This record gives sequence, C-alpha cells and structure tokens, in this order.
Amino acid sequence: MELLIKNVNIVDSSKAFCGDVYINNGKIEDIGILNRDCEVLDGEGLYLLPSFVDLHAHFREPGYEYKEDILSGSMAAVKGGYTAVNLMGNTNPPCSYMDIVDYVLDRARRIGLVDIHQTVTITKDMLGKDIDHLKLIDERVKFISDDGKGIVNNKVMLLAMQVAKEKGITVISHAEDEEISKIDTRLSENLMTKRDIELAKFTGCSLHIAHVSTKEAMEEIATAKDKGLKITCEVTPHHIFGTSSLNYKVNPPLREREDIEALIRAIKRGYVDAIATDHAPHTKEDKEKGAMGISGIEVAFPICFTKLVLEGHITLNRLIKIMSENPARIMGLYKGKIEVGYDGDLVLVDLKKNYKIDPSSFLSKGKNNPFDGYEVYGRVVSTIKAGKVLFRGD
Ligand code: DOR
Ligand code: ZN
Repeated sequence: MELLIKNVNIVDSSKAFCGDVYINNGKIEDIGILNRDCEVLDGEGLYLLPSFVDLHAHFREPGYEYKEDILSGSMAAVKGGYTAVNLMGNTNPPCSYMDIVDYVLDRARRIGLVDIHQTVTITKDMLGKDIDHLKLIDERVKFISDDGKGIVNNKVMLLAMQVAKEKGITVISHAEDEEISKIDTRLSENLMTKRDIELAKFTGCSLHIAHVSTKEAMEEIATAKDKGLKITCEVTPHHIFGTSSLNYKVNPPLREREDIEALIRAIKRGYVDAIATDHAPHTKEDKEKGAMGISGIEVAFPICFTKLVLEGHITLNRLIKIMSENPARIMGLYKGKIEVGYDGDLVLVDLKKNYKIDPSSFLSKGKNNPFDGYEVYGRVVSTIKAGKVLFRGD
C-alpha cells in the first residue's frame, strides 16, 4: 500500500512546512518534494498532522453494545482523526480477565480500523476489593484502571500499585471517593488526586491521572511533577470547553471558569501530558436516567483547536504534542510524529472550515454531547492509517 500526500502543510510537534509525504508498507518512508507513481492525495490548502491517539475511551463491549460497540466506536474514532485508542474496562462483565482482553483485541483486529489497547480493571469486577486477578494479566496489558469509579480503599490501591510496579504497567487513576462525591465532588477529586500521588511516591509505580478537572488537583499534579515525580495526566476537551452552567451530567463534573483557566495554564506550561476524550456514549434513555458522560471523540480536535489554538493559548505544534505525540509515547506506539520510520498514521484537516457541532450526525451510537450548535473550526478531511485512507469527509 503506497500513498503520496502532496502540497500539504506538514505539522507535528517540532515542524511546520509545506511539502509531500510518502507512505509505503504502513510507514512514513520519505518527506520532501516528491514524485511517486502511486495513489496521490492532494493536500492543497490543508494541514497534515500525525493522527490523534486517545488514552481514554469507552467502546462498551462486551455488554453495553446498545450504547456503543467496537465497530461504531472505531468509526467514530476515525471520523475524529484518531487511529489508536485505549479502552476502559467498565464493561459488562468488567474487563478483569485476559479472555475479555482477547475478545476485544480480536474484534478490533477483525474490524481493522483503529489500533486498540484494552485496559484491565484494578479490582476484580470493579468491586473495589480483590486484586488477585492482576497476577493473570500478560504483557499485552499496559494499563489498569477502575475508571468510572474511584478505588476508595487506600490499602487496595497501594497493593495494586505495588503489583503494577512489579509488572511495569501504569495505573490510571479515576480520582474519586464516591461517598465524598455525594457531599462535594471537588473535594472528592482533590483528595483522591493527592492520595494517589502519595501512593505513587511510596510505591514507585507509574501513575496516570485521568480527566483532571479542578484547579486544585492540577496544582497538586504540577507540584508533584516539579519535584520530579514521574506521573502523567490528561485533560478532556469538555473540561476546557464547558462549565457547570451547562448542567450536563459527566464525571468528573464540568467545573467553573477559574478551573478552565487553570487547566489551560497547565497545558501552556507543559504540565498536561495529553488530551484524552473520555468518550462515553450513552443512549437518550440512559442519559435521562442520569448516566454520566459525553460522546466526544468525533469533535475533540475541533474543540481543542478552537479553544486552545484559535484563542491563542498554544500553538498547533503544541496541540499535536498533547493529542498525538505524548499519548502515543505513553501507550508505547511508534506514532505521533511525521518522521521517516514512524507509522503512516496521519490526519488531513481543514483548519479554516467552520461549522456547528451536530451530535445527530455522529457515527457513534451515543449522541450525548452538550455542545450541540457550538461553532468550531478544524474539520477532519481524511484519516489515514498505515497509508490507507480510512475516512474521507467533505
Ligand atoms: O462521565 C463519565 N462517564 N465518567 C466516567 O468516569 C465514566 C464514563 C462512563 O463510562 O460512562
Ligand atoms: Zn473516569
């Protein structure tokens, strides 16, 4: 499979110039002013970026296929410019064993759209108690998380971090104490962020903090990073785009203007490793019953480009670092840069194109998104995986 993308603005975290990119056998083989006798994609007026990598998404298989499945989730990811995603384990049954990992990876391979990593739960069946199942996970598992729920018991988290350290895997913290959340969700997130940083310090385990939403939690993380602790963190597009005034159920909740400002300041200063979508599709009925979450993978890039780059907070290069390069590195993938030898996973975007978000047009089964009608810039025109054009928009 050969593909030549011509006359395009090539941008990654460290470069921006006009030229051509040639992909052969799935890898970027040449960059410059090129001519090849193969399929050509004209990139005139468009931008070619490394495709996006999502550290945090819910594709709901097995068990909740009525909300999303690996096919609809993969299609939504590709439409959003993503070619690799890390799936959370709060499925039904929860993903506590390798047979479920095998099932998901096999489905993903057959579908063949995006690269998928499946996270295993920290506690058996996400019940918050037993971690014996962690003995059985093999080297294909890079992350463990009870995302959707926090691990309330300190000792359980400590022991899980010790296992993670031994196995060389990363704990993804959904920093929440459900009991405290009933009183104050901000306190809940802040407390558990502090606790998990302390436990990571004690155990030496690799820790990634999911969907940081409060200014206090972000300050804790920045302080820990300044002290040299090897932790990483992610921020979602919705937590920088919407406030609590939207009254939209998502966990952690949409916060206040000062929180958004603090998250953006942290992004500017380099404390935020990744933008992750926490793509959480639900049906209309489930949302009406109070289900938490936002279906967002299809509009993550335009939201971040509009909010972070067009408002002048960061450059496009920096946005690519946190949407492609860093998450690829955290997942151990050879993606996220436009360099010879890297995977030929690229996304062609039209940065001048403005349009209104329309959840009813999502390929995801979940149309649950609070930004219906919001005007954004940056349309994904094509998503290319290993030199193959998987998606062509308008
Ligand atoms: O809003 C959320 N939805 N936050 C989570 O942590 C879980 C997710 C889900 O699975 O729906
Ligand atoms: Zn979560």
